[in-house]
Amino acid sequence: MLNVPAQAFPASGSQQRAAAGGRSKVPLKPGRSLMDWIRLTKSGKDLTGLKGRLIEVTEQELAKHSKKDDCWICIRGLVYNVTPYMEYHPGGDDELMRAAGTDGTDLFDQVHRWVNYESMLKECLVGRMALKPLAATTGMLPKNKVLDTSSKDLTPSYDWFQTDYLVTVVIYTKQKGMNSEMVIVDYQDGRLRIDSILRDYSYLLHIGKCFSFIFFFKVHVAEKVGKVEIVLKKKDNIPWSKLGQPLSSHNSFIKCTERGLYYRKCKLISKTEVTHDTKLFCLMLPQSTHLQVPVGHHIYLKQIIAGKNS
Ligand code: HEM
Repeated sequence: MLNVPAQAFPASGSQQRAAAGGRSKVPLKPGRSLMDWIRLTKSGKDLTGLKGRLIEVTEQELAKHSKKDDCWICIRGLVYNVTPYMEYHPGGDDELMRAAGTDGTDLFDQVHRWVNYESMLKECLVGRMALKPLAATTGMLPKNKVLDTSSKDLTPSYDWFQTDYLVTVVIYTKQKGMNSEMVIVDYQDGRLRIDSILRDYSYLLHIGKCFSFIFFFKVHVAEKVGKVEIVLKKKDNIPWSKLGQPLSSHNSFIKCTERGLYYRKCKLISKTEVTHDTKLFCLMLPQSTHLQVPVGHHIYLKQIIAGKNS
C-alpha cells in the first residue's frame, strides 16, 4: 500500500524549513526544470567558456565576473561559472546574483546548505581560488593554514608505482578533457621523456639512467579527471628503487613556445608524388615513441645531408 505522509515537506523543525522562512521559489520558464538542467550538463556543451581547462582564479578576476551574462561564484574555494544556470535556479536569477563575483559560501549555506551544488555545477567548474600572496598572510595564519591543500595550484604533478613486470608513471594534469593525443612519450638510449601538452603549456618529465632496460608499453588517459598513466615494461622483474635520474627540465611546466623542438629518428618508408608540388611521406616512428599528431597540427622534419641539417 502506498504510504502518503500527512506531514508537509520540508518537515517542521527541519533544516530546510528553518532556512526557508518565507522564501518562495520563482516560476521558471518552460524548459528550465532540474531535468532540463541535467540534460544540458550532460550535452557536452562547454558551460564554463574555458573548453575544459581549469584555472586559478584571483579575487580580482572573480570580481570581474559579476554580471548576469557573465557570472562566477566561489563556493568553498571552488569557482563556478553559473551564467548558464541562471535561468534554471529555482530561487531566481536575482537571488543568485547576490553572490555574483564573490565568495557566496556563507550566503549559500544560509539559504540552502543541503543543495548538492558540487554535483549540479560539475560542468560549470572554472577552477580554484588562487592562494593569496604570502605577504598578506604571513604572521596572521599558522603555516599549515597558508599551505592549505584547498589552495594548491594547478601545476601538474606525477608519481610512479611498480609491479613485478610493469612500471606505471602517473601524471595528474588537473585538467579535464585530456586525451592520448596530448601525451608524447619517447624512450631512447635509457632516457624517458614524457611531454603532456595542456593547451599552450607543456608539462615535461625527463628521466635518465632508468633502473633497468624498459620499453614503452601503453598510455591510458582518464579523461574526466585528467589522470594520465604511462605503462612501461621492465626487462626483468627486479624491483626498482627509483625511477631514474632527473634530466634537464624534468618536472617543468612552461609555455609550449618556450620548450623548444624535440626531434626523433624516423625511418622513411615511402615517398609518393601526389601532385607537381605535393609529396606524401610515410615515416615510421621509433618503436618506443608514442606520438599522435592531432588533426590540424603540423610537424617539423629535418634531414641530415652530408653532415648538414636541411
Ligand atoms: C549563493 C547564492 C544563492 C542564493 C542567494 C540562492 C537563493 C535561493 C533561494 C532564495 C531559493 C528559494 C527557493 C526556495 O524557497 O527553496 C533557492 C533555491 C534553490 N537554489 Fe539557490 N541560491 C544561491 C545559489 C545556488 C547555487 C549555487 C545552487 C546550485 C546549483 C542553487 C540551487 C538551488 C536549488 C536546487 C534550489 C531549490 C531547492 C531548495 O530550495 O531546497 N542555489 N536559492
